[in-house]
Amino acid sequence: MERAHHWWQRGVIYHIYPRSFQDSNGDGEGDLADITSRLDYLAWLGVDAIWISPIYPSPLADGGYDVADYTDIDPRFGTLADFDRLVAEAHRRGIRVILDYVPNHSSDRHPWFLASRASRDNPKRDWYLWRDPAPDGGPPTNWLSYFGGSAWTWDEQTGQYYLHSYLPEQPDLNWRNPAVRHAMLDVLRFWLDRGVDGFRVDALSQVIKDDRWRDNPPNPHWRPGDDPSRALLRVYTSDLPEVHAVVRDIRQVLDAYPDRVLIGELYLPIERLLPYYGERGEGCHLPTNFHLILSPWRATEIGALMERYEAALPDHGWPNWVLGNHDQPRVATRIGPAQARVAAMLLLTARGTPTMYYGDEIGMQDVPIPPERAQDPVAWRLPGLGLGRDPARTPMQWDRSPGAGFTTGEPWLPLAPDAAQVNVAAQQDDPRSLLTLYRRLLALRREEPALQVGAYLPRGIHADVVAFERRAGGRRFLIALNLGAHPTRVEPDTGAGRIVLSTALDRDGEPVAGMLALRGDEGVIVALDGAA
Ligand code: NOJ
Repeated sequence: MERAHHWWQRGVIYHIYPRSFQDSNGDGEGDLADITSRLDYLAWLGVDAIWISPIYPSPLADGGYDVADYTDIDPRFGTLADFDRLVAEAHRRGIRVILDYVPNHSSDRHPWFLASRASRDNPKRDWYLWRDPAPDGGPPTNWLSYFGGSAWTWDEQTGQYYLHSYLPEQPDLNWRNPAVRHAMLDVLRFWLDRGVDGFRVDALSQVIKDDRWRDNPPNPHWRPGDDPSRALLRVYTSDLPEVHAVVRDIRQVLDAYPDRVLIGELYLPIERLLPYYGERGEGCHLPTNFHLILSPWRATEIGALMERYEAALPDHGWPNWVLGNHDQPRVATRIGPAQARVAAMLLLTARGTPTMYYGDEIGMQDVPIPPERAQDPVAWRLPGLGLGRDPARTPMQWDRSPGAGFTTGEPWLPLAPDAAQVNVAAQQDDPRSLLTLYRRLLALRREEPALQVGAYLPRGIHADVVAFERRAGGRRFLIALNLGAHPTRVEPDTGAGRIVLSTALDRDGEPVAGMLALRGDEGVIVALDGAA
């Protein structure tokens, strides 16, 4: 039965923020060659794929999501030869490599934009979104940048505004222009030809905007003090019907290569995620489901989310779950270290492809960043709202040495104050550590098709506990997760069995019949007797 599934359905994706993973040349920023040097760790951990945030030449106005050349490697990360070696070494270990693809915008230093802004009659003018001022001389529409202020910037030299959904240094490409589509699809082929196994597509829902340039309506739920970029509903700037044609074009490029994966970054409610699979599965393989991050961490909410998502998915829609990324506070900070263990078990036992964020496997926390060390433009463009993303992007904590085994130099962001205690070396041989829990969960998932690709059956939400069953090929597992801090008992009516894993890593083999006792902040996986 496992063979009927693709690697990206069975596998677990590990997201690497390349500036923060491993540095060995002492400049305080991570390098590609050093990701290669850590592949043995990732193989030991048991992940199946790595997704690397952008590594392309970039002025780093937005941490690399401002791409100045789509088909090269930024020298600060290495060379194309280093990249080829990384892919070859990863593949040798059975690890796939997924790249970030940033279609919505380039850097303002990209040669395309330099040409586009050079004159109104430049052949590349229409590669970006230029408009005349509104009658009052102001911006052409009321559209807002995700990073604060208007989404339009005035260009003195050519007397027009250009659109940027993010920073002024990130002008939006015009995906309605066939030449842009053509050039950007060629970018995919460039990396696919080098052996890349797929893409995570940045800001996918934004690539098409209203061609009648209508103003976005006010957001009735917005209150002063909220994130100002949410003051308007993004009706005319995100999730337009025409975006699906772009998704199909991208998918077609991937489909010309065997076994590649297309992941769309989409912060959308479940019902609006579904169309991104395509009507018959011709869209994204994995439209990202961020609802574990966005929902309150309560059994009622999380249990209902799982049931609602499963019920909503079309037959051709494979689920996926994400617990953390470089844009969000870390899971151990959001829900606390004790629940981070429960969350690990949920992530790796729910039906669907899990994505882990580097460092979450050792319980890394958000690191407070003093304003003078802030690197994320959001920290200073939207000050006082706690939206800066640096705290979740700090260097990986490998060991207790002064540079945490990340660097011998000055790290580009401060190391966590607890790095001497919370690190890979300290947890690797500790039978009760979070890292051991992750490793055992990953191993169990790999061994058991029921956990990897099996059916999902909700088994109720009992006060603080979310319970569900997974089954395949005659094997059945009950997963019961106590999202509360108090001990409790549940009787999920699934029959007897034995505990194969507790988040506390101390109940292996314990028989279960009828009533199942859970400590506070504990989750267990029970191998159930009897065929499915
Ligand atoms: C989403 C990326 O994850 C984020 O880091 C970036 O700032 C925006 N898209 C713009 O590219």
